[in-house]
Amino acid sequence: MFVLRCTVRGCCQMLQQRGSGLFCGSGHHFDQSKGGYWNLTQPQDKKSLRPGDNDEAVLARHRWLERGHATGLIEALKPWVNPGPVSDVPNHLRVLDLGCGEGTFGPALFGDQADGYCGIDLSRKAIRLAARRWPAATWVLANADRVLPVADGSVGCIVSLFGRRPEAEIARVLAADGVLVVAVPGEEDLVELREQTQTEGHRRSRWEQVVDAMRSHGLGLVEHKLWMDRVALDAEQIRDALAMTYRAVRNRQHQRLEGIDQMDVTLAADLMLFQPV
Ligand SMILES: C[S@@+](CC[C@H](N)C(=O)[O-])C[C@H]1O[C@@H](n2cnc3c(N)ncnc32)[C@H](O)[C@@H]1O
Ligand SMILES: [Zn+2]
Repeated sequence: MFVLRCTVRGCCQMLQQRGSGLFCGSGHHFDQSKGGYWNLTQPQDKKSLRPGDNDEAVLARHRWLERGHATGLIEALKPWVNPGPVSDVPNHLRVLDLGCGEGTFGPALFGDQADGYCGIDLSRKAIRLAARRWPAATWVLANADRVLPVADGSVGCIVSLFGRRPEAEIARVLAADGVLVVAVPGEEDLVELREQTQTEGHRRSRWEQVVDAMRSHGLGLVEHKLWMDRVALDAEQIRDALAMTYRAVRNRQHQRLEGIDQMDVTLAADLMLFQPV
């Protein structure tokens, strides 16, 4: 399995697996949960103001991905994470997926690298679904906004797909020849839905801010691409799209969509590949 580091404050020793437990040299230990994931959260994480996505959002995302709405996105990401024999990037890497969610992307992108893959999420619902889908990989319930449970410079590939981006920790754990792959919603993502639910379907582009934030932590942009698709949604899919994206959408805004049982929407994501400079 992916070798993890102890998350007890100030400890930082590596964890070793014995039976169904992980132990560090200072006597801290973590049991594997029945669901097959490792709970590395610390008491301070439970007080987190952002405890990860709620169950409703996780299940909506799960149904959304099961319908195949990210198939094209996965294909667009593959050349960056699995570049093949002509590339300098080794095929077998230690991979850290920050905010992995319900676990569709891990096996789709790294399915032959179960030993080297670790998904981290703060939602118990999400990490359970992920561990059930791909038990051979390592799944961790932890707060990715705190200290990441891995050693310095030990990760060959970090992915953050609409997930967490703790820049300083990413820079600490990424190997000197490693890659970072980030996806954020594109300006046009679900714009038709936003036009219906909000007074204005305001468009905003986030990817350039991500590039600035990464650059200030020594991570340079190697490539950017925009992925786009168009899909026809029925009423249930419209509800799921709202539930997984806008946690704070008010009922009044939901009501504006009542009676709409079909809508063509744009899907868009800005994809970025970074390397340490
Ligand atoms: C929009 S979802 C994306 C999930 C997945 N990468 C995907 O694309 O389907 C964001 C995920 O980040 C998780 N998350 C939010 N805050 C987190 C934190 N502090 N630490 C770890 N995960 C977190 C949420 O629980 C959720 O699963
Ligand atoms: Zn420890």
